[in-house]
Amino acid sequence: MQEKEKTIILTGDRPTGRLHIGHYVGSLRRRVEIQNGGDFDEMYIMIADVQALTDNAEDPERIRRSILEVALDYLACGLDPNRVHLFVQSQVRELFELFTYYLNLVTLARLERNPTVKSEIRQRDFDLSIPAGFLTYPVSQCADITAFDATIVPVGEDQLPMIEQAQEIVRKFNSVYPGANLVLPKAMLPESGVCQRLPGTDGKAKMSKSLGNCIYLSDDEETVNKQVMTMFTDPNHLRVSDPGETENNPVFTYLQAFCEDAHVAKFWPEYASLAEIEAHYRRGGLGDVKVKRFLAAVLNDVLDPIRKRRQIWAEKPEEVLEILERGSIEASKKAKQTCDRVRNAMRIDYFSTNRLI
Ligand code: TRP
Repeated sequence: MQEKEKTIILTGDRPTGRLHIGHYVGSLRRRVEIQNGGDFDEMYIMIADVQALTDNAEDPERIRRSILEVALDYLACGLDPNRVHLFVQSQVRELFELFTYYLNLVTLARLERNPTVKSEIRQRDFDLSIPAGFLTYPVSQCADITAFDATIVPVGEDQLPMIEQAQEIVRKFNSVYPGANLVLPKAMLPESGVCQRLPGTDGKAKMSKSLGNCIYLSDDEETVNKQVMTMFTDPNHLRVSDPGETENNPVFTYLQAFCEDAHVAKFWPEYASLAEIEAHYRRGGLGDVKVKRFLAAVLNDVLDPIRKRRQIWAEKPEEVLEILERGSIEASKKAKQTCDRVRNAMRIDYFSTNRLI
């Protein structure tokens, strides 16, 4: 009898700083929902420190420092270490063994075609000095995914090329090495386009620390209020009476990602829904400052419980470290099983099977 396919979820983040509200609507919120829904067999959440090193090799302290910050952000959002394995990539050595074997099935031309890697290379001004580790990180990411037999990978849209490349490697590997039985992963994208691409507070395409256009999950109320008040809106909405655009207006994009009916009832009961607020803004007669005050209230309402949980965990860093250590041990056990299966399929388990004789 065929066993029902398990649902195994794996995803992760590079620890290059604290996580922001773009990470939250793009993936973290969904992970917590899945966790609380309970409709899965295993869930692994990885802090991808080795991937972060591929373009930070000379600043390892930044990565080191960010590991605990990201772990705190995870716990603050409500990820529960008793239900999901929170672990650190560098502590699971089997990942790097799989990476080595997979590299042989990928061409340089294919690596150079990955659109996300291409745009990252452009952003980073690598020119001709692209680190080999950076160019090959999608292959390493395939190891991260397949080591856990992951069926579902919740990610943002920018990660689709990675999943596609992983699928190619899985197919190729399984056909070259029958018996490896690598599991074909599927991406799971955020519910809406708005959540997939939350712009920076300045309206630029992405939140980035260096641009100073982020709102972090750990920002206090005052910082959030300040950031929201500096936000970019519709540049043609000069007078309150002017009609305004709600599309490509980051204040409304954030509201679409965060605002629920309950927020309208609680903070702006003059309106029945966000749709009504939007209609008023488009018609004219609704000022930016009022909308921004409402957005700040909504964000603070969402962030408040997150900040409180973060504070509690931040006071016991030893416990957080222990959670990561325990998670990494569990993750290693699972990855070792996959690695053993792969070595067997490749017939390089020479001593356990006497296959050299
Ligand atoms: N590339 C992901 C990011 O930049 C992080 C990551 C590493 C990841 N390994 C992964 C995501 C495996 C999903 C699955 O955020």
